[in-house]
Amino acid sequence: MSEFEPKIVAFVCNWCTYAGADLTGTSRIKYATNVKIVRFPCTGRIDFMLLLKAFGEGADGIIISGCHPNDCHYTSGNFHARRRWVMFRGLMNFMGIDTRRVQFSWVSAAEGAKWAEIVNTTVDEVRELGPYTDYKKVADYLETEVTNG
Ligand code: FES
Repeated sequence: MSEFEPKIVAFVCNWCTYAGADLTGTSRIKYATNVKIVRFPCTGRIDFMLLLKAFGEGADGIIISGCHPNDCHYTSGNFHARRRWVMFRGLMNFMGIDTRRVQFSWVSAAEGAKWAEIVNTTVDEVRELGPYTDYKKVADYLETEVTNG
């Protein structure tokens, strides 16, 4: 039987982490191929429904990563993201989603090696947790939210 390979979705900001991930590639640093990157202008745009949607569509783990504090190109988007992350954790606990499935980090455009390390660590941790199988629960929640506005 083959080993479980987790599907990881990374929500990253365009200006720092996306450029850092690009540097990882151009520096030829090897890292797990399990990650699919979704680029946003800023981590301040990332909300809880996007995380749920990713889990509902089959992700086993999520990485959220943007500019370091005081480096956000929109001044404070990353601080909003950090505050939201505190709320996300509570909501995940409430919904029974293991919070270890979501990693929050800061990666600059110059930190290609750090990006590789975060991806590899997340893949290893989620591999240990096993596949996320509560899609139905998340899908039902999303349908309720959409129906009730
Ligand atoms: Fe990178 Fe805001 S522009 S976190």
